[in-house]
Order: sequence, then structure tokens, then C-alpha cells
Amino acid sequence: MKRDFSCILVTGGAGFIGANFIRYVFYKTEFRGIIVNVDKLTYSANLKNLEDIERDFKDRYYFEKVDICDRKALDIVFKEYAPDCVVHFAAESHVDRSILGPEAFIKTNIFGTFNLLELAKKYWIEKNSLSEKLFHHVSTDEVYGSLGKKGYFYETTPYGPRSPYSASKAGSDHLVRAYFHTYNLPVTISNCSNNYGPFQFPEKLIPLMILNMLEEKPLPVYGDGKNVRDWLYVEDHCSAVWMIISESKVGETYNIGGENEWENIKLVKKLCEIVAEKNGKKRDYYKRLISFVKDRPGHDKRYAIKCDKIKKTLKWARSVSFEEGLKVTVDWYLKNEEWIKSIKSGEYHRWIKKNYKDRKK
Ligand code: NAD
Ligand code: TYD
Repeated sequence: MKRDFSCILVTGGAGFIGANFIRYVFYKTEFRGIIVNVDKLTYSANLKNLEDIERDFKDRYYFEKVDICDRKALDIVFKEYAPDCVVHFAAESHVDRSILGPEAFIKTNIFGTFNLLELAKKYWIEKNSLSEKLFHHVSTDEVYGSLGKKGYFYETTPYGPRSPYSASKAGSDHLVRAYFHTYNLPVTISNCSNNYGPFQFPEKLIPLMILNMLEEKPLPVYGDGKNVRDWLYVEDHCSAVWMIISESKVGETYNIGGENEWENIKLVKKLCEIVAEKNGKKRDYYKRLISFVKDRPGHDKRYAIKCDKIKKTLKWARSVSFEEGLKVTVDWYLKNEEWIKSIKSGEYHRWIKKNYKDRKK
């Protein structure tokens, strides 16, 4: 049986995966209800990712500038829109930033998730609401820790987070499960591998490397470049989340992955070749920019996901090959100079300040 929600509250919908998810739901599914995007608009958010959604779905898409750490403001949103589904993406998301300043990660990722759970409990359980509800928590494979050369992360792998980011996400996963077991809150959780694709803030490996190549800047590879990540095209992550919220039993956790492991250095070289080809340069032109730099402290060696559960139970399948996904991504960054310029110049953040006020309590 498929669930048919009337209002989905998406947190972090102005970020990379959240924006792709909202676009996916409106443009590629049968969904006929409304989406409320709740986002604080931190440095990694960009409402311009959703300009066409604002235009095409005027009466079905709403934006609320709200910090999920602000329970009173969030309460107003729950009261006003009465969502029957929450898809929770909002987070501080970058490991390097969590090493430099962990506090924001603890606040948003743990306390912010706690606030959302409390409000879902208040409006869905305590008020005894009758229609079917679901709280979906979007998490990462990094909660499982670091793998050696062999082995995989399964849904049953014990948690072993090693960065402030992954520890804060692990904390939020535990809270979500606790609300299921203790209060019967209807929840699902997904733990996904590294995403890439359009609209990703250029601090993560793939967009950072592409933009540095375009500016002929050094390409900083941490340590010996032999750390391994499992890459998934963002739209395939979105389709997995959509299938989970539509069809999964409550209380379930799913791993989502690309089954596509790459050593960082091999991936950077591959990207160099794709950008060179698109820019009419010689194959090795950008490789001279590769620069090995000091390693990230506590750098997890390898992530690799087994995602047989979602493939078997929900019949989810990836639709984009890595080759194809990388080419689409490079094209997107090459074609969206304005988007890049507005982020880099601070123009976007000035525009936000002028046009969007925080939701009043
Ligand atoms: P992102 O940094 O691009 O976007 C995060 C969004 O959350 C931004 O729009 C930001 O403004 C918003 N946000 C941050 N703090 C907030 C707060 N206090 N209140 C309201 N909004 C707030 O991150 P992303 O890459 O899109 O990641 C989205 C989710 O997916 C995160 O939960 C992350 O842990 C998870 N995830 C990401 C990846 C990946 O490879 N990027 C992989 C697996 C899981
Ligand atoms: P990142 O995109 O930050 O994702 P995560 O740390 O969540 O996996 O990094 C992906 C990999 O690339 C990771 O092993 C760290 C490495 N990396 C670099 O070598 N150089 C860089 O400039 C960045 C941002 C990451």
C-alpha cells in the first residue's frame, strides 16, 4: 500500500539533497499535496535552487525561514500547516567544519532533531491525530565508522562514529529510534553513502575539485589520497527516500549506497579528465594542479554500503551510472556560472538578508 500524504514538511530543503528532493517530488512523482520547506538558510543553503519550484507550484510549495533549534517557531509551523509527514534533511553536514567547530553540529543535528521529534509527538501522538503519519530521518553511513580494505556497512553494523559530524548524526539516529520504541512515533531512517550532483555546495570533494579546476587553483587531496568513498548520484538518493516514505513499514532502517567505491585520488584524476574533455583541453591538463596536503584528523579510511534490503524489499534501483552522473554534474557546474558567482561573492547572502525575515515567534 502506498501512503498518500497531504502535507510534507521538508527540513533543510534549501540545501543540496533537500532541494534535489523537493524538485524530485514535484517533477517526478505523483504527489499532489503541499510541501513546506523549513530552512534556517545557513551558508550551504541556496533558495535559488528552488526558483522554478516557487514559480511552477505557487499554491503547493511554501518556504519558512526557521531554525530547527527554535522550538516555538517550529511549533507555529506544525500548527499552521499540520504536516502528516516530516522528511528531515536539515543538518550541519561537513566533516571538516565539524572538526573546526563542533558546537553547531551538536545544536542542529542533535537538539534540532529532538525538537522536531517532540513536535511530531505533540501533534501526532498527544493530539491523537487519526490520519497516517511518518517521520523520516535522513542520515549517513558515516555513523558506522571506518572500514578497512574489506567488509561492508549493513543495517545491523554497530555504530562507531569518529568525527563530531558523524557522532552528532549517530546521536540523532538514536533519538529517532528511541521515539519509535518509547512513544510509538511512526519513524523510518535511511543511512546513505556520499552524494554528488547539481546544487552541491563547493566545499565537498567533487564540486570543490571542479571549481578549483575552472579557476586553475590547486586540487587539495588529503593524505595519500587512498581513502575510499562510495558515491551515489543525488537523484537516486531522492528516489530511495521517496520509496521509503511511500511504502516502508514504520520502524525500519535502510542503507542506501552507490556500490561504487573510489579512491579519492583516482576520482580526482577521473574528474580532471572529464573537465579537460568538456573544456577542450588535453586529457592530463588539470592533473598538474593535484596537490597532496596534510591529512584530515581522524580521516575515515573507507566507506562501503550494502543496500540489499532496500533493493529487495522496496525494489529500489539506481538509475544513473557514475560515468553519466559525473558528466551531468560537471556540465551543471560549467553552465551555472551565475550560481557559483553569487555564492562566492556573498551576493546571495546579501539578497537573503534583504528578502527573507526569520519567522516571528
Ligand atoms: P547541506 O549542507 O547542503 O544542506 C543542509 C541544509 O540544512 C541547508 O539548507 C541549511 O541551511 C539547513 N540547516 C542547517 N542548520 C539548520 C537549522 N538549524 N535549522 C534549519 N535548517 C538548517 O547538506 P546536504 O548535503 O544536503 O545534507 C542533507 C542531509 O543529508 C544531512 O542530514 C546529511 O547528514 C545527510 N547526508 C548527506 C550526504 C552527502 O553526501 N551530502 C550523505 C548522506 C547523508
Ligand atoms: P567530503 O566530500 O568532505 O565528504 P566526507 O568527508 O563526508 O566523506 O570528502 C570526501 C573525501 O574526499 C574524504 O575522504 C575527504 C577527501 N577530501 C579531500 O581529499 N580533499 C578535499 O578538499 C575535500 C573537501 C575532501
